[in-house]
Parts: sequence; C-alpha cells; structure tokens
Amino acid sequence: MMELKLSMVVKLLWIHCLAIVCTSQDFDFFYFVQQTQWPGAYCDSKQSCCYPSTGKPASDFSIHGLWPNYKDGSYPSNCDPGSNFDPSKISNLTQRLQRDWPTLACPSGDGLQFWAHEWSKHGTCSESILNQNEYFSTALNLKERVNLLQILGDSGIQPNGDLYSLESVKDAIKGGIGYDAWIQCNTDTSGNSQLYQVYICLDASGSNFTDCPIFPHGKCRHNIEFPSF
Ligand SMILES: *[C@@H]1O[C@H](CO)[C@@H](O)[C@H](O)[C@H]1NC(C)=O
Ligand SMILES: *[C@@H]1O[C@H](CO)[C@@H](O)[C@H](O)[C@H]1NC(C)=O
Repeated sequence: MMELKLSMVVKLLWIHCLAIVCTSQDFDFFYFVQQTQWPGAYCDSKQSCCYPSTGKPASDFSIHGLWPNYKDGSYPSNCDPGSNFDPSKISNLTQRLQRDWPTLACPSGDGLQFWAHEWSKHGTCSESILNQNEYFSTALNLKERVNLLQILGDSGIQPNGDLYSLESVKDAIKGGIGYDAWIQCNTDTSGNSQLYQVYICLDASGSNFTDCPIFPHGKCRHNIEFPSF
C-alpha cells in the first residue's frame, strides 16, 4: 500500500516535470501585429466596420494581436479550451486596452469579445510564458515602445492619403526599431493598395524584438496609400 502511494507520487512528479519541459518550447516566436485604425484601411475595404461602443478610436495604430508562431510559418491556435478569458484578470488594463486595442468589428462592442477571441485563439498558446494579464500588458507595453506613427512621421510618412513607396515605409520602420517589419496591405473600394497592418517579430520570451524567421504571404503594390483619418 505504502509502496503504491509512493510510486504514484513519483509518477505524478515526473509527469509534472515533463509537462514543464514540454510546454516551455511550444512555439518559436511572436508576431506583434498593429493595424491602422482609419476606416480607409479597415472599414473602407469590402468588410464593414463599426466604432467601439466606447467611442471613436484615436487616429493611431492599434493592436490587432500578439501571435505565437512556428518558424515554418504555421501557428498553434486554441491551445487550451479550458482557459477561459476572464475580464477580472485584466481589469487593471481595461482603459489602456480600450485606447490601444479597440475593436472595429460589427456590431459595436466594448472590446471584450475581441480580446476574448485573441486570448482563446492565440494567448492560450503562450500561456506557459505569459499569463492572461501578462499577455495583454506585454502587447500594450510593446505598442508604447514602438510608436509606429511617430517612427513613420519622422521619415515624412503621414496618414494624409498620399502614396508612399513600400520601401520607404519598410526603411523607416527598420530605422526606428532595428528590425525588418512586414507590411500587409489591403485595398479600398477604389482599388488602392494601402497600409493596413504591420507585423513585427519578438522572441519567444516576448521581451525582445528579433528578425522575423519567416514572413506571411501577401503583397502590397510598389506605392501604397497611407489613408488619412
Ligand atoms: C494588474 O493586476 C495583475 C494581477 O491581476 C498584476 O499581476 C499586475 O502587475 C497588475 N498590473 C498593473 C499595471 O498594475
Ligand atoms: C533580451 O534583451 C536583453 C537586453 O538586450 C538581454 O539582456 C536579454 O538576455 C534578452 N533576452 C532574451 C531572452 O534573449
């Protein structure tokens, strides 16, 4: 009897240790994705948009998400269905989330649904490194560290509806953060290619920028519009 109990304890400990080893390396890097907030980039495309119930967002880049990825370009998702998004765990971040991570989906919402989606689909896949509060605060802090609007503005690239060469946009961001970013474009209803989302890579600890091991597919035209707000 005693022996049995002891062996169970050892077995449990062993499984526990194994789980730690296994979960510490379950993805390779993060994509930190920011998007332009103007309706021209999100709303004036074929998809429609709605301002959040908390009000019209600022004329600034906003966060789309922080996405664990594999080096081959694939990514884990919905890693822990049991880990429910819990608003009480991020209650001290709500104001910052509403400002920097607003939802533009229809119908209008206060953001909770968007954040819950990002947590369930992506956040649960880096849970061994970032708990729910850390996941959201990491993204918010990154947004503060990378002031994309200012970085672009410093190179004369402003959201004024003008066309800029894709290279000049990439060069400006590389000059500002030291790493290559990937620019995702979409098209407005007139068919203009425009700056939509910016992907920046982070190491798997979520603390340092890094060169992206792989870039997503998709293309921008040579000259892209930076739509005004
Ligand atoms: C917010 O609360 C969490 C605990 O839920 C804590 O770990 C974190 O440090 C707090 N963040 C701030 C910015 O106060
Ligand atoms: C992140 O960068 C800091 C400062 O450059 C460095 O001390 C630290 O070791 C890096 N962390 C990782 C996980 O590479």
